[in-house]
Amino acid sequence: GAPVKYNISKLEPGQMVTVEWRGKPVYVVRRTQESLDNLTKVDPLLRDPKSAESKQPGYVDPENRAIKPQTLVLVGLCTHLGCAPMYRPEVGAADLGGSEWMGGFFCPCHGSKYDLAGRVYKGVPAPTNLDVPPYSYEGDDVIVIG
Ligand code: FES
Repeated sequence: GAPVKYNISKLEPGQMVTVEWRGKPVYVVRRTQESLDNLTKVDPLLRDPKSAESKQPGYVDPENRAIKPQTLVLVGLCTHLGCAPMYRPEVGAADLGGSEWMGGFFCPCHGSKYDLAGRVYKGVPAPTNLDVPPYSYEGDDVIVIG
């Protein structure tokens, strides 16, 4: 399939959009500085915080899982059985662990939880972090997926 381009210049801090690539949903999130600062706080709660066993290109930072930290690009398919996780950015969400929840993604099918780098929590069915697809930048604002 052909690469897909998306211009991120109008994405607001905290906003997520879904872009279709090869029939798959790709989530593009503009992370806030606060959410980036919170990433290391959840490391102890995660199964694979450095993405050693998860799928991502080698040029992506294994912890914040992006080329440029403020823009996260993930395949929006749960690594358990492929449902689409919901974007749940709100810190402290009571149904997702309260004070331990720093925002992320929640899979409604069997309850897998991922942080705002798509890194999976311990104790849920999903075995690995959400995949990062191959992508690059064209200039400052256009990401090219594929
Ligand atoms: Fe997401 Fe099972 S498909 S938890």
